[in-house]
Amino acid sequence: MSGVGSLHPLYEVIARRRDVREEFTGEPIPPDVLDRVLSAAHQAPSVGMSQPWDFVLVAGATTRERFAAHVAQERAAFADELGSASPERRATFDRIKVEGIRESSLGIVVTHDQRRGGPHVLGRRTIADTGLFSTVLAIQNLWLAATAEGLGLGWVSFYREEFLRDLLAIPEPVRPVAWLCLGTVSHLADTPDLERHGWRVRRPFADAVHHESWSS
Ligand SMILES: Cc1cc2nc3c(=O)[nH]c(=O)nc-3n(C[C@H](O)[C@H](O)[C@H](O)COP(=O)(O)O)c2cc1C
Repeated sequence: MSGVGSLHPLYEVIARRRDVREEFTGEPIPPDVLDRVLSAAHQAPSVGMSQPWDFVLVAGATTRERFAAHVAQERAAFADELGSASPERRATFDRIKVEGIRESSLGIVVTHDQRRGGPHVLGRRTIADTGLFSTVLAIQNLWLAATAEGLGLGWVSFYREEFLRDLLAIPEPVRPVAWLCLGTVSHLADTPDLERHGWRVRRPFADAVHHESWSS
């Protein structure tokens, strides 16, 4: 991207960040690097400073294997639905890898606890989702910090919350919001996988910006 080099390095990290599935090399992550990345996530903004996130680190092969088998089932269910609507889209989807659960160095499950901060969270009264938004901001911090450290991260959402809750003994009403595959990588791709495989392209930036009202 032209001009990025002269800007603050944060912009370069934002441009380099990718959702990674294919490029994991599976080397261990140095503990100080992992600490920095998790601590960056923990510095995220949150509604009423509720800090509703937690991070469950999953290194064990058996748990990862069980999760990967569940994700494979959910992927197949989506592929079947897609196939009934459009065989062409299904053929495109069949070429796309949607997770690197086994190949990554570590799984990080980010959870959300809407109870955190008590019943009167400052700023959450009219928009309950602001709690969840906060947890997602922690994920974005984690993603950018991982990129800055030269690691790759892939978000996996092909799962049922109840399955992951049982797998990791997450108590109700805490929600598992994401399984993040974090790890050392050979490289980060220049283009998003979904674009490379012809699934979907980025909208023109100008289409996303409106002036004064939605329709203008
Ligand atoms: C909420 C969320 C859920 C996602 N779930 C998956 C997933 O299950 N599998 C996958 O391969 N990518 C997943 N992604 C990654 C997106 O496909 C990816 O961000 C998008 O294609 C743009 O590519 P980029 O992140 O490399 O720029 C998810 C991303 C988000 C934000």
